[in-house]
Amino acid sequence: MQSRYFTLRDYPNGAPPRELFELRQQALPALEEGEVRIRNRWLSVDPYMRGRMSGVKTYVAPFELNAPMEGAAIGEVVESRHARFKSGDKVRHMAGWRDVAQLKGDVIEPLPDMDVPDQAYLGVLGMPGMTAWTGLHRIANLREGDNVLVSAAGGAVGSLAVQLAKAKGGTVVGIAGAEDKLAWLEQHDVAAVSYRGKGARQLAADLEEACPEGYDVYFENVGGECLEAALDNLKVGACISLCGLISRYNSEAPDRGPGNLANLLVQRARMQGFVVSDHWTEYPHFLEEVGPRVARGEIDYEETVEEGLERTPDAFLKLFEGANRGKMLVRL
Ligand SMILES: NC(=O)c1ccc[n+]([C@@H]2O[C@H](COP(=O)([O-])OP(=O)(O)OC[C@H]3O[C@@H](n4cnc5c(N)ncnc54)[C@H](OP(=O)(O)O)[C@@H]3O)[C@@H](O)[C@H]2O)c1
Repeated sequence: MQSRYFTLRDYPNGAPPRELFELRQQALPALEEGEVRIRNRWLSVDPYMRGRMSGVKTYVAPFELNAPMEGAAIGEVVESRHARFKSGDKVRHMAGWRDVAQLKGDVIEPLPDMDVPDQAYLGVLGMPGMTAWTGLHRIANLREGDNVLVSAAGGAVGSLAVQLAKAKGGTVVGIAGAEDKLAWLEQHDVAAVSYRGKGARQLAADLEEACPEGYDVYFENVGGECLEAALDNLKVGACISLCGLISRYNSEAPDRGPGNLANLLVQRARMQGFVVSDHWTEYPHFLEEVGPRVARGEIDYEETVEEGLERTPDAFLKLFEGANRGKMLVRL
């Protein structure tokens, strides 16, 4: 059987050009004892992958050049020499960016059994959903009535974060760029503030208007002007749950920090970065809490789907244009 997979030709400086991604093909060897062969059905593309294209070790190693790229994927076992898996089993694993994966059985997980579509385990009930839950409940220690601000609020992480925050009864405000995301937020009774075409001062004024009392929690996905504007609107004792800084991922020069960092001191606030994988032992707890709500249709999760393996780099690059609402996925 053949496997088609993407490789990275070089580490980009700035926005990655499409030509950087090369589609290759190889014949897979016969399965060894303990291995499983999987036909991938869904691939995840995520902003953190940009960090793996930088050639620098952060909390995860860079992609190896000219080698199969990796990422979360869901597929179906087509052949198994592992006692735990048989043909037809649905599984999740990290050998994405390809159509057929061959892996040791011990790095593959069976899909949980809930009444949700398979691809939900890459989005609302996968890593992004777990990130929203962790950032609010384990980093910010969200309380009843907290006013919460979320940036990239119409994306995979942000769209669950606003809904979990809403359930606590405080004012919830979402920052987003694309018009459809702003409309989606309004539909969910979340005040929507656009960041586009505004400087930090105007954005800060808009955030104040949306919630004059100020924010107890800022779920930060973006950085730059969003962070600066949020720092002007913190309540005393607020927490910034620092999840991501997507506005900086394609920067060619180092970021200058916000000019109003002193507000952290003035408001006796804290900012804590986190990486969701450090909290993964809590995944079953997250699933137990959020899974049934998703299955009952109480949580609205959106997906933006690109069709075909060839479109994987395009799907990834679209994350930086705001072209996805909810989770960006590739269907094979
Ligand atoms: N710490 C962790 O463990 C962890 C885990 C998962 C994700 N994250 C982080 O969480 C954030 C969201 O990830 P996600 O998977 O949910 O992605 P996403 O929000 O579904 O997609 C990215 C969104 O970011 C917005 N964006 C892109 N470039 C921007 C810019 N220059 N300025 C402002 N907004 C911009 C776009 O929406 P607009 O239409 O609003 O522009 C885009 O749709 C990312 O920063 C990611 O790195 C962190």
